[in-house]
Amino acid sequence: MAKEIKTIGVLTSGGDAPGMNAAIRAVVRTALARGLKVKGIKKGYQGLLNEEIIDMEGRNVSDIIQRGGTILGTARCLEFKTKEGQLKGAEICRKHGIDGIVVIGGDGSYRGAQALSRNGINTIGLPGTIDLDISCTEYTIGFDTAVNTAMQAIDKVKDTSSSHERCSIIEVMGRDAGYIALWCGIANGAEDILLPEKYDYNEQEIINNIIANRKKGKSHHIIINAEGIGHSVSMAKRIEAATGIETRATILGYMQRGGSPTAKDRYFASIMGARAVDILIEGKTNRVVGFQHGEFVDFDIEEALNMNKSIDEYQYEVSKLLSY
Ligand code: ADP
Ligand code: F6P
Repeated sequence: MAKEIKTIGVLTSGGDAPGMNAAIRAVVRTALARGLKVKGIKKGYQGLLNEEIIDMEGRNVSDIIQRGGTILGTARCLEFKTKEGQLKGAEICRKHGIDGIVVIGGDGSYRGAQALSRNGINTIGLPGTIDLDISCTEYTIGFDTAVNTAMQAIDKVKDTSSSHERCSIIEVMGRDAGYIALWCGIANGAEDILLPEKYDYNEQEIINNIIANRKKGKSHHIIINAEGIGHSVSMAKRIEAATGIETRATILGYMQRGGSPTAKDRYFASIMGARAVDILIEGKTNRVVGFQHGEFVDFDIEEALNMNKSIDEYQYEVSKLLSY
């Protein structure tokens, strides 16, 4: 028989993402509406181990749906990667009467959730990362806001780049994944897109492309470079030396992780947050909520972590076609 859930905890872990607050709000209010008690765990697994645990009522999540960041705070916690840390975390949950936890974060956070589940605490993961790099879902909380923030910033750089007839390298976030770069590449009409999954480090090809585009009459040359490739400043110097065209680098950085979430991020975070609570109530554990083929779904965490996701070849090809 499924374990009856009376009190659930909620935490945010790993890199923050716009929309995490909307997810926290949805978890808290759904749980309260279903007659459960809710505890907020501050600063991810680190806060769990430090017992930074607070009672959450409906009013604790008032006026947060539009706010970026996470009201619970987030952290990276090495101790939680150890068996001792995980056992201690589960014990602390039991001490505080927490029998189910919703973890909002990325792949790493899911591994922590898996460990809690193995140690007797029912856990559900929600995809919270601006990088869109969680294989079991076509949507992650924060991506839509981040990509719009980056797109707007790149539009501005493009204006000045055209006025000065410069080449601009704009570095967007994505240590291991090029989704923000791909989307901005298409949405901003970039001439080149460098993705960790695709780039072959053939800088001469970029240089040839810049020269060819100048001959075609293009007044700017926008290169979107993903953080995973990096080195935008030195790349700009080499490109300027090779082409004779003034080249500037702009690194967008952490601005992409903040800001008020878009309607899409608020909407998806709200539905996913509610669903996480409802599947905990059904007695499920060790699951992650995702969005696939137009539907909200959930998967076993192990199965989710073993899935693969790659840059769509056709979309990547289109990004090149349209930069002609
Ligand atoms: P994300 O969740 O965004 O992928 P991280 O990979 O940094 O971010 O993971 C966030 C936190 O999840 C880590 O700091 C750690 O506390 C926990 N975590 C990551 N990997 C594991 C693991 N293998 N086992 C247990 N906990 C983990
Ligand atoms: O949130 C994901 C991400 O933005 C990555 O693209 C980036 O590499 C990483 O977080 C950096 O986060 P931090 O500096 O907080 O570890």
